[in-house]
Amino acid sequence: MIAIIGSGLVGSSLAFLCASNSLDDIILLNRTKSKALGEALDISNSIPETSDFTIHGTDDYSEISRAGIIVIAASTGVYLKNRHEMIGAQVKMIKEIGRKIKENCSSPVILIISNPVDVLTYFFQQETGFPRNKIIGIASSLDSKRFRYLISKTIRVKNSQISNANVLGEHGDSMVPVFSQTKIDGKNILEIINSTQKEEISEGIQNYWKSIRDLKDRSQFGIAKNTFDVMESIVRNQTLSIPASVLLKGEFGEQDVCMGVPVKIFSKGIVEIQSIELDKTEKELFKKSAQTIRNNIKSI
Ligand code: 2OP
Repeated sequence: MIAIIGSGLVGSSLAFLCASNSLDDIILLNRTKSKALGEALDISNSIPETSDFTIHGTDDYSEISRAGIIVIAASTGVYLKNRHEMIGAQVKMIKEIGRKIKENCSSPVILIISNPVDVLTYFFQQETGFPRNKIIGIASSLDSKRFRYLISKTIRVKNSQISNANVLGEHGDSMVPVFSQTKIDGKNILEIINSTQKEEISEGIQNYWKSIRDLKDRSQFGIAKNTFDVMESIVRNQTLSIPASVLLKGEFGEQDVCMGVPVKIFSKGIVEIQSIELDKTEKELFKKSAQTIRNNIKSI
């Protein structure tokens, strides 16, 4: 069973992907029950005729007790300037959700989408004490897809020509696109783009969410599909290597902070925190990103 907490734009888009791909039974939970019921009623019509899975809306946490995966897509409001402008309310919310999940569920894999995702992943782990490999912040894989998109637009190459385009660190302005490992048809991208293009691509990834917000309100499909990919990996026992936010215990020289690093995911969550070569500048940016997240954690 899959539980999705928060049936707004992102939660309902994700539920639609799970239902229409016949991933598993779905419980869509929302603090406003009618919203969850309405989305479930609509999405149920996307379940393939060959599938016996169902989708159900509720506001009752006791109904998610059998969930193997719980996605947290809830939010206390809409942020406009930056992803951590509602940090106090969001942390209070994630702690309450953590308490309710701990009361009702045994050992689900938790996927956190709500922002600021790195800080919320940290506080969820603190609140529940769940093992770190079962609490995954989904964001850096989305930033990495945006990295690929901006590369393809900037130097007019196809997606299939791009490899190892990863973004690590904070899902925020201090994120670290790893240009030093990114290749175009096997050739390092830094031999192809100039410093202006590199800066434009970096700023483009940081501000991508603002571009979407200015044009259509909020992002929903990119984050939903990147979260679905992780859920499919877990439910269908397929390994998936992506960057995601996880509690670090010395990896990359960082302790007691959640941030985007390369991880391998399988049926029970994260099975490995993978290494990646960073150049001198990227190592410095990664350290700064860790400190930015720590400062936000300390601000609570
Ligand atoms: C995004 O990057 C808002 O974190 C969300 O689209």
